[in-house]
Amino acid sequence: MIKFFKLYCKCILSSALLFLCATTQASNDDAHAYALAKQNACLGCHAINKKVVGPSFQDVAKKYANNPNANTFLKNKILKGGSGSWGVVPMPGNSKLTDADLTLLVSWIMRGAPAKN
Ligand code: HEC
Repeated sequence: MIKFFKLYCKCILSSALLFLCATTQASNDDAHAYALAKQNACLGCHAINKKVVGPSFQDVAKKYANNPNANTFLKNKILKGGSGSWGVVPMPGNSKLTDADLTLLVSWIMRGAPAKN
């Protein structure tokens, strides 16, 4: 019985730790993505939850939620810019961004662009 209890404690402890690590990782990514969006003036044209010049990041997440090509499509679109998805106003390209930056930004946007905490 004691043995069983010990095992039970270990399980609880390790799942709690795992959960903690996972949440810390996600909020680090959120903070990093938010900083990148700010540095690259994305937030001058986009807000998290309302349309500015471009669509809100939450609208983008909704529009592409069931699109299996969303990651590749959006990374390329942010890199090269263009119009046609939301209207005639084009987004300028962001050729300075690395592939890692683009991946981070797109995964953040697709999670609904949670604000840094
Ligand atoms: C000068 C204004 C402007 C800036 C700066 C800007 N965007 Fe945009 N963005 C737009 C507009 C306008 C659209 C809509 C384009 C369309 O209709 O295809 C758009 C669309 C998007 C989309 C959706 C693309 C699609 O085809 O559905 C994403 C994702 C996006 N922007 C991310 C970003 C990120 C990340 C940055 C910063 C690196 C950024 N934008 C900077 C104006 C801007």
